[in-house]
Amino acid sequence: SLPVKSVLEIVRNDSQSVPERYIQEHKDRPLVSETLPASPEIPIIDFSLLAKGDGDERRKLDLASKEWGFFQITNDGVVDEVLHKMKSAVAAFFALPLEEKKKYAMAENDLHGYGQAYVVSEQQKLDWCDIMALMTLPPESRNFKFWPHTFTRFQVGGAVEVYSTQVQKVAEEINANLSLLMGMDRDGLKRLHGKLKQLLRMNYYPPCSRPDLVLGISPHSDGGSLTLLLQDDEIIGLQIRHKEEWIPVKPIPNSLVMNIGNAVEILINGMYRSIEHRAITNEKKERISVTAFAFVDDELEIGPLDSMVDDLHRPRMYQKI
Ligand code: SIN
Ligand code: FE2
Repeated sequence: SLPVKSVLEIVRNDSQSVPERYIQEHKDRPLVSETLPASPEIPIIDFSLLAKGDGDERRKLDLASKEWGFFQITNDGVVDEVLHKMKSAVAAFFALPLEEKKKYAMAENDLHGYGQAYVVSEQQKLDWCDIMALMTLPPESRNFKFWPHTFTRFQVGGAVEVYSTQVQKVAEEINANLSLLMGMDRDGLKRLHGKLKQLLRMNYYPPCSRPDLVLGISPHSDGGSLTLLLQDDEIIGLQIRHKEEWIPVKPIPNSLVMNIGNAVEILINGMYRSIEHRAITNEKKERISVTAFAFVDDELEIGPLDSMVDDLHRPRMYQKI
């Protein structure tokens, strides 16, 4: 990524003005109002039922993936204390002085480390967010040079590793359920593509004096298989594109938000959708979130599964990529 300023530093130096490069074009600016229009809430899936093999809950997952591509997961088995420690690890990292954080700075075209997401040109608008990304799974993919070793929570056996492992169990169980829904046995997708890998991205959105002008993260869809998001318990930021509207995803304390990524949309020949989403900021308080991307090897070629294609009723919608 191009070296751009830390947004947190911008705010620390001057909390009132918003630099030009962060001001979105009119058409992309978010509508920020205290009184949000009544909006539908995204579906809720009870993970403990899915894990028990409950067929009704699996059909709910199927419907949620078709109609929304996004859902909240409750009873996910991730221990509350682990969620709490994960969040405080992220807060402690971003609270470090800039010089300290720079020791973990992201190199150009790398996934690991501290920096900004998706900075590809001098012209583009920038997101009101600092990030810290770590490859977490499989364990061999970790590059400890980028792990803030001054914090025990980032060390082996600490909160970050425990969180990453517990969250991956959730992703694997969902993947097993998707395999069933795609007409395979529970291990179908794993046999085809191998175990899911994981990248953890920690997002820090400082408060912004003009949340109506900026975006915390610009609209995008996720490239991988499944994304699991740990949100702030109170502050709303995430919005998803649903029927031409931006719908806020209201936090449910101690639960995770999951969405279908591009890879699954392709495998299932478009029956599930990888939905566009973005995050907005607010004037009052910083927002922290942690995104766990579960994905298959980038080198693998994927395309719609044969069982998902039917020349008459469901023609192939994607090339192999
Ligand atoms: C993301 O798209 O990964 C970030 C969403 C969020 O912070 O809510
Ligand atoms: Fe995303």
